[in-house]
Amino acid sequence: MFFDSDYREGARLDDGTPAEIRMIRASDQDLLRRGFERLSPESRYRRFLAPKRSLSDRELRYFTNVDGIDHFALIALTTTANGEGEGLGTARFIRLRADRTCAEAAVTVVDDWQGKGLGRLLLLRLIAAARERGVSHFRAYVLADNRKMHSLLEELGGATRIRSADGTVELDVPLPDVPADVSVPPLPVFKQHPVYRVLSEAAKGSVTPKPASS
Ligand SMILES: CC(C)(COP(=O)(O)OP(=O)(O)OC[C@H]1O[C@@H](n2cnc3c(N)ncnc32)[C@H](O)[C@@H]1OP(=O)(O)O)[C@@H](O)C(=O)NCCC(=O)NCCS
Repeated sequence: MFFDSDYREGARLDDGTPAEIRMIRASDQDLLRRGFERLSPESRYRRFLAPKRSLSDRELRYFTNVDGIDHFALIALTTTANGEGEGLGTARFIRLRADRTCAEAAVTVVDDWQGKGLGRLLLLRLIAAARERGVSHFRAYVLADNRKMHSLLEELGGATRIRSADGTVELDVPLPDVPADVSVPPLPVFKQHPVYRVLSEAAKGSVTPKPASS
């Protein structure tokens, strides 16, 4: 597999900051806790759909002890001036038990590092790893609470399976074919893809994601 414990990628954010992306591991609990502390209340709310003051020890263990197949997670980090690692963001998917070709996915970037292309890069790598593991769709839950969301749903149409109940919309978004080892992805095409449109609208705050059940 391309995305295994040896996977390590040097990347540059849009502002030139060097970053490393690799699979998350059990020893990353502290890195994750510190990254969460730097997330704004708004980003925490968007990720978990509840005001969240901290991650519990149990959550930290759960988010870092991944099997790499059914629960897969990447972490992006940089090195601070004093030589310490600083977590910039994570991307994870958790495969659904009822449908192994589908997984719930979440991408989170620490506020100070948002808007520099990291969310896009993490999403690209997450998709490549998902495809490598036989996942063909990401499931997203969003709250159908505004007009922007409704027009996005109309736009997505087609290949995206959409179900709604109680004001919540469940989207099964098909994953594009993203080669894992291509450093310059076909961005203009990717940016039109439904899976990227959902991320981009989440970043703009125009759609509210509902948290994954885990
Ligand atoms: C959603 C999120 C992961 C995006 O990460 P990011 O690193 O900021 O994203 P990128 O820099 O790669 O930009 C992706 C798109 O979002 C847009 N964007 C990013 N930050 C934005 C901001 N503050 N305001 C408006 N647009 C923004 C970018 O312009 C880009 O869209 P475009 O290609 O149409 O121009 C990040 O905002 C985040 O962690 N939000 C909180 C948690 C969340 O909502 N996660 C998503 C669902 S689980």
